[in-house]
Amino acid sequence: MCGVVGYIGLEDCATVILNGLKKLEYRGYDSAGLAISETAGALKVIRAEGKLSNLEKIFYQEPFEGTRGLGHIRWATHGAPTEINAHPHVAGSIVLAHNGIIENYRELRDKLAALGREFSSATDTEVVAHLIDSELKSASSLHDAVLKSLAQVEGSYAFVVMDINEPDTLVVARNAAPMVLGRSDTAAFAASDIPAVLEHTRKFVFLHDGDTAVLTREKTSIFDVSGTPVERPEKHIQWDPISAEKQGYKHFMLKEIFEQPTRIIDTLRGRADVEAGDINLGEVDIDPEFLKKVNRITVVACGGSFYSAMVSKYFIEEHTRIPVDVELASEYRYRKPIIDENTLCLAISQSGETADTLAALREAKRLGAKVMSICNVIESSIPRESDGVLYTHAGPEISVASTKASTTQLVALSMLGIWLGRRKGTLSAEQGRSWIEALRAVPTSIEAVLTNLEPYKDVAKTYASASSFLYLGRGQQYPVALEGALKLKEISYIHAEGYASGEMKHGPIALIDEKMPVVAIALKDTVYDKTISNLMEAHARGGKIIALVSEGDRSLSDTAEIVIELPQVDERVQSIITYVAVQLISYFIADLKGTDIDQPRNLAKSVTVE
Ligand code: F6R
Repeated sequence: MCGVVGYIGLEDCATVILNGLKKLEYRGYDSAGLAISETAGALKVIRAEGKLSNLEKIFYQEPFEGTRGLGHIRWATHGAPTEINAHPHVAGSIVLAHNGIIENYRELRDKLAALGREFSSATDTEVVAHLIDSELKSASSLHDAVLKSLAQVEGSYAFVVMDINEPDTLVVARNAAPMVLGRSDTAAFAASDIPAVLEHTRKFVFLHDGDTAVLTREKTSIFDVSGTPVERPEKHIQWDPISAEKQGYKHFMLKEIFEQPTRIIDTLRGRADVEAGDINLGEVDIDPEFLKKVNRITVVACGGSFYSAMVSKYFIEEHTRIPVDVELASEYRYRKPIIDENTLCLAISQSGETADTLAALREAKRLGAKVMSICNVIESSIPRESDGVLYTHAGPEISVASTKASTTQLVALSMLGIWLGRRKGTLSAEQGRSWIEALRAVPTSIEAVLTNLEPYKDVAKTYASASSFLYLGRGQQYPVALEGALKLKEISYIHAEGYASGEMKHGPIALIDEKMPVVAIALKDTVYDKTISNLMEAHARGGKIIALVSEGDRSLSDTAEIVIELPQVDERVQSIITYVAVQLISYFIADLKGTDIDQPRNLAKSVTVE
């Protein structure tokens, strides 16, 4: 949730850290801080409430220099988002910035208070700073003090810590929160995510849970949970640093919507075998014999990833005949799920760090399920704990509202459906081929949608002042209605509900009056006629219909206020196109309302708390 950047090297690092934090702003933005300490005993710390720009303002009024430092951008979990609670926290000679939650911080705090320690903030992090500082007295080094402290800490953490009396070291620790290490010719970096330091290095090492690391100007040493030195492989990251920038778009969200054709191609690349009508999933390290025996798939996910799972239920069940249960991860983990040795648990997550999804995955594993994940962030926690992983190649997603990650999830889920169907014998080579061809045609259809944004802007102009929206869809378009409503809520702060069209008459129809815009997805698919009847019911109650229809379908011209035609594509991939349409409706409404689209209030990109 929070973002951390650490630097030790030969250059002045304040701007390196501030620029790194800028790239992590999507992780947290309620306060920020920077600490520099180069020579023994010297320390300069600044902290500011609110966005990073507030911190930058303070820094540039009175800049300071140094070649070792750390920075933090916060999303509050313990204590209000105030300057006093902002990181880095200082205790004695210890300076620390942390992402995560220390579960036993009250207990530790009481213990330390009894030893005369005084706390200035309400955070769990300050407790760890004090703990390390108190351990320092009997420790041989900062790293030793960190190890001694971690033995007493329960919870999730990724932190960077420095001792002002040990000026040549930064110590890093990770458990159940993301942390990467990078190294250039002149410096070592620690960061919550790759884009933070990608402009300085492409060489990264991913820490495992329980790992600690000692960074000096010359070398990086990594230790496992027992404090034993370990080697972690270095990976070369190909991302172009500017792919994490806005590239001229007004918002990251719009940029990411426009990236979808390319990201879908990337996700299919090297995996789709058109000739064989099959998918090459060699990279998914799960025993193929097991996959052939799978008789139930349980999908666990949260938010938008949950809706992607719901879409996939329709096509995976139809084409593999394997029952698919789609479960909210936050519910799954606390009930008593039924799992047998032929159950495949599929965890879907853009970030790979969502606490509920990770916990549901662990529960499924504990009960004996094989776990596979679909994820966008390499080496994040969910893939690392899965038996196999299918990565979406959406690239870094900065906008809090997910767009390209969601549509690439749908592509990955289709690939999984084809792969399983072929192995189960429920999908012929010809059917596999036509499905792959349909997937390969999707980017062109999305491009066609993106070349005419006027209808979406019209919806925004006409309805941005509405206080509530209803989204209706049937079949695969029902979860798209849910996704559309979620996206509108997230970024425009307008209340919206998604409903299965057929359910409307069982309750929500009471809400419909002439003030209610109804986004109705009515494509020429197998449930077209039924959908039209439901839509007429809404129209008869005065609802203002915004109809998403198949290209060339003029039958709703008299019923709907606004008709948006969408390319007619294979039904198995139709939702990918309607996802783009509902993204655009939300985007232009939010843009007209002037909300903070990329960082909507109260939301964070990576939800690493329960
Ligand atoms: C929706 C959105 C969230 C995420 C959810 C799960 O636009 O971004 O609802 O989908 O928090 O996140 P991941 O996929 O990272 O597990």
